Order: sequence, then C-alpha cells, then structure tokens
Amino acid sequence: EKGGFEHFMLKEIHEQPKAYRDTMRGRIDASGKHVVLPELKLNSEQIKNIRNVQIVACGTAYHAGLVGRSVIEQLVKIPVETDVASEYRYRSPIITPETLVIVVSQSGETTDTLAALREAQSHGAHVLAITNVVGSSIARDADDVITTLAGPEIAVASTKAYTSQLIAFYLLGLYLAEVRGTQTPEQIAHIIAAMQALPEQVEKMLSQADAIKDFAEQISKHEDLFFIGRGLDYAVAQEGSLKLKEISYIHSEAYPAGELKHGTLALIEDEIPVIALATQESVLEKTVSNIKEVKARGAEVMAITFEEHVAGLLKSVDQAFAIITHIVP
Ligand code: M6R
Repeated sequence: EKGGFEHFMLKEIHEQPKAYRDTMRGRIDASGKHVVLPELKLNSEQIKNIRNVQIVACGTAYHAGLVGRSVIEQLVKIPVETDVASEYRYRSPIITPETLVIVVSQSGETTDTLAALREAQSHGAHVLAITNVVGSSIARDADDVITTLAGPEIAVASTKAYTSQLIAFYLLGLYLAEVRGTQTPEQIAHIIAAMQALPEQVEKMLSQADAIKDFAEQISKHEDLFFIGRGLDYAVAQEGSLKLKEISYIHSEAYPAGELKHGTLALIEDEIPVIALATQESVLEKTVSNIKEVKARGAEVMAITFEEHVAGLLKSVDQAFAIITHIVP
C-alpha cells in the first residue's frame, strides 16, 4: 500500500506530479490559453463585483493561503487578506456580500475552518472552498468548491495536498483575472504553459532526492535552524519550517529575510544552519545582502535558487541547491 516507499509521507511527496496533473486536468482548455472552472457557481457579474478576498485556513493550508494571497493580488489586483482560521472570527473581520471568502482545507473537516466558513456566510459572503475531500463538511457547506485531486493524503504531514492547493490558487487566480480583464491573454497563456511544465520539473527534482538527503543529514545534528526568504519565498519558508518541526522535532523559525536584523540576528551564531530561499528575481539582490548578514555572524547557509544563480550565490553561501525550472517562451 505504500507503493514500495518507506512511509506514506515519502510516497505522497512522490505523488506530486500526478496530483498536479489531476488537479489541472479538465481545467485548462485545449488551446492552453484559458482556465475553465465549470464547477463554479460564481458568475461573471459576481466576480466583477468582488471588492476584497479573505483566505482562511489552518496550518499548512494557511501557508498555501499565504501564497494564494500573492497570486490573487498580483493576477486579479484585488486586496486579499489571509487569516489563521482560529483567529479569524475573533478579530471581527470586515465581511460584506462583495467579499469572496476562500477556505482551504485538505480534509474539509477542520473545526476552526468550518466555523470561519459559517461566520463568513452569516455576513452574506460567498464562500469558496479549496478542499481535497469530496463530500466533506466544508465541501458540503461552501457555496462553491474547487476540489484538489491530490488523492487521499494518509500522512499527517501534508505534502501533495499543499502543492495541489497552490495549483488550485493559480487556476482560480487566472480564471478571475480573465473575467476581470486584469491580465492580457498572453500573460495568462504564459502562466498556464509554466504550470503545464511543472509535473515534469517536479519529477526531475524528485530524482535528486539523494543530494537533499546529504544536506538533511548535516542539519540533523542541530537543534535550531532558520529559514529566510522574501515575498513568495517567505511564504514557502513558513511551510518548510512547519514541516521540519513536525517531522524532525528540530526547532526552526521562518523569517522574512529583511526582518532578522530587528532583533533575531542575535540568535544567529557559529554554524547555525540557515536555509535561504532565493527564487524571487525581483528581490534576489536584497536576499543576497541578507544572506551576507547571517554569513557574517558565522551561519552555515544553504541556498535554494534557480540553476542560473547557483554559481553567483556560491560566492556568499556554503551550499546551493537548484530548483529545476525552465522559462517558458
Ligand atoms: O485538513 P486541513 O487542511 O484543514 O488541516 C489543517 C491543518 O491541520 C494541516 O494543514 C496541518 O497543519 C498539516 N497536516 C501539517 O503538515
């Protein structure tokens, strides 16, 4: 049942390419230029009337929501907030009938997320759920559902469900962008092509698991670790940090790279591992200058970046790991 893998988490990590393909299947038209979401009840008029978006979820799904915030703000140009579900209803959020509330839940059964859904509906908001379980409480109660087709996630630590939630956010963002005319057809087609290239890239990434294992062995001797990044890298760093804590019981913190100097830098001392995510071109130089700050304090830095930046970054870091992408023309 574990398909030859040692445990379910590993199996599910390797199921990501399939989960992406399944989640995209039927939601991108044959021309590769449009996202189609026939399951949505939300009509064009309602979409044009959306004034703000609130994304609400717990844990890993919340971290997916942090990425979702950037995706929707950038593609659709609507203000988006992302909240932890257990906080949402106690902060008296401003919810109106023009608010689109997106709840994200792998299981579709998380109590706080379900309570947030009900709170939003009681204020007249349209609630769209991104969930992996058809027929779950959240799927049943939401006004709209985008199902991630990641297949059952048995491991407690979420992996393929998280990355499939990101796919769902991109599909939704592109769909809303087309209806609201906030992206050109070329920009939409470009992102779709990049998404379609993903499963194969992830397959290649997974074939490099041994290199990652070596690094994991080095950090296993430490008790504390930092993840740093800016923008989307920071959002992903938060999920990386949660996963590390949950699985290895190594304490770690994710920090926006530019925020460390406001106090926390004092904790960076000799040989403490810092995983620096540097995949955001627009802030790459700034991230590199933050990497230099931690290096100056003796940290052991491992950078995750694009292939073309590995050589440059190796001047400032101890190790660099390339994620595989190719720029779609
Ligand atoms: O089923 P949900 O997505 O609503 O679960 C929310 C969190 O409990 C969950 O994402 C949790 O943080 C992960 N399993 C951690 O890996």
